[in-house]
Amino acid sequence: MQGKLVAVVLAAGKGTRMKSELPKVLHPICGQPLAVFAIRAALGAGAREVVVVVGHGAEQVEAELRRALPGAPLSFALQTEQKGTGHAVLCAKDALARIGATARTRVMILAGDVPLLRAETLAELVKAQDRVGVELSLLSTELPNPTGYGRIIRDEYSQVLRVIEEKDATPEQRKIREGNASLYVAEHSFLFEALNLLTPQNAQGEYYLTDIVAIAASRAQKGAASFPAALLADAREVSGVNDRAQLAWAGGELNARKLDGLMKSGVTIVDPRATWVDADVEVEVDAILEPCVSLRGKTRIGRGALLGQGTIAIDSSVAAGARVLPYSHLEQASVGARCIVGPYARLRPGALLDEESHVGNFVELKKTHLGRGSKANHLAYLGDAEIGAGVNVGAGTITCNYDGVHKHVTRIEDGAFIGSDTQLVAPVTIGKGAYVGTGATIREDVPAGALAVSAGKQRNIEGWVAKRAPASNKAK
Ligand code: UD1
Ligand code: CA
Repeated sequence: MQGKLVAVVLAAGKGTRMKSELPKVLHPICGQPLAVFAIRAALGAGAREVVVVVGHGAEQVEAELRRALPGAPLSFALQTEQKGTGHAVLCAKDALARIGATARTRVMILAGDVPLLRAETLAELVKAQDRVGVELSLLSTELPNPTGYGRIIRDEYSQVLRVIEEKDATPEQRKIREGNASLYVAEHSFLFEALNLLTPQNAQGEYYLTDIVAIAASRAQKGAASFPAALLADAREVSGVNDRAQLAWAGGELNARKLDGLMKSGVTIVDPRATWVDADVEVEVDAILEPCVSLRGKTRIGRGALLGQGTIAIDSSVAAGARVLPYSHLEQASVGARCIVGPYARLRPGALLDEESHVGNFVELKKTHLGRGSKANHLAYLGDAEIGAGVNVGAGTITCNYDGVHKHVTRIEDGAFIGSDTQLVAPVTIGKGAYVGTGATIREDVPAGALAVSAGKQRNIEGWVAKRAPASNKAK
C-alpha cells in the first residue's frame, strides 16, 4: 500500500522579474493570488496536506494564502535565505514531520507560479510514481525554445539520467528541447536522503533540487530502484509565470478555460474575447453575458439572468431571470429573481433587492433593502434604508443618512409613495401606504396613510421679469 500523499509548494523566491513590491506568488490572477492555483491543483490531485515554503514577504504570503484558502490543510515553512530549490525543499522537512509524514509518504513538489497546471496532470504523475520501484517521477515538456529551463538528459534507452540547468549546460546539451517542468513526486525516504547529498557546486552556487534526478538514476544503475519516471506534459500547462507579460498571458488562458467551461454548461457568452469571469464565479444555465462583462470574486449568477454589456459584479449575486442592464456596477450586492437593474445603476455593499424590484439609471444603493416589487427608477441615493414591498421611490429622492458623525436609518413601509426630489432626513419613518409630496424635506415620521408636504406654497409675481430686466432690454 502506498503512503499518504502530501505536497510541498515552493514560494520563497522574490520573483525579481516581476519588478514588484508584492511577492510574485501573491500577484492576482483571475481573482486569486497566483500560488492558489498550484495549491488547488495539488489538493485536487489528492494531496492531503500542503506545506508552502515561504521566504520573501513570508508573513504576507502566509496571511494572504490562508485568507484565500480558508479551511485548506495548509502549513508554512520558512526559508530565510534562498539557497536554491533543493534547499527550499529541505526547509520543509520539519513541517512535513509535523503533519505526520513518514518514510513511505509520497511528496509532491511543485512551484507556486504554475497557475495553469491541472489536477489531472498531477494525478498522472502520482500514478507514475506509484509503480513498483519508482522513487521519483517528474514532468517534462517539449519546448520550441527551452531557454531558461533545465534540460532532461536521457541515455540511449531513453532512461532519464539527470537534469542539467541551462547555466551549467554545454552548447550540445542546450540543443535538447525536452525541458524540466519542475514538478515531481518522490518517496519521502528517498527525497531527504538525496537532498542531504546535494552540494552547491554549480554555476549558480545553489542547492539544485534537480540534482535528485541524477541521484535516483544512479541508484537505478546500481539496481537499487527503478529509473525516474518522466511524463511529458503540455508546455502551456506547466509554463511558469516569471514576469508581467507571462502573468497576463496565463490570466487570459485561465479566463478562456473558465469561459469554455461555462459555455459547455449552457451559458451564453456573446464575446468570449471580451468577457472576464474569475475562477470561483458560478453561472447557471441560460444566463447571458453580453460583451465586456466582468464577474469577479465569489459572484453567483442565476438561471436565465441577463448581464448587460459592461456590467461589473464583484462578490455579488444575481438571481434567476433578473436583468442587469448595461454598465451597472455591483459590489457585495444581492439582486433578487426577475429584478431589473440599470442601465448605469450602482449597487454598493449591502444592497439587497427582493424579487421583482427595479433599480433604474443613476440610482445608488448602499446597505439598503428594497422590498418585493418596489421601484427606484431614476436618479436616487438610498443609503441605510429599509424599504418595504410595493414602494415607489420618485426620481431624485435622497436619504440623508449621515449627519457628519453618525449614519441613521430611513424606513419606508409597504406601499408608500415618495414624490420626486424628496429628501428623507434620517432617522425617519414613512408609514405604510403614506404619500410624500414632491420636493419635500422630511424630518419627522409620516404616519401610515398620511400625506406629507413640506415644500412652501407657490407664489407667482406678475410682471417680475419686465420690472427686473436691465435698461438695455427694456429699450427693445
Ligand atoms: C527551475 C528548475 C529548472 C526548471 C525550471 C522550470 C532547479 C534548480 N531548476 O529553474 O530545471 O526547468 O524551474 O520552471 O530547480 N524557490 C524557492 N527557494 C529558492 C529558490 C527557488 O522557494 O531558494 C522557488 C521559487 O520561488 C520558484 C521555484 O522555486 O517558485 C522555482 O525557482 P526558480 O529560481 O524560478 O527556478 P528556475 O531557475 O526557473
Ligand atoms: Ca534560479
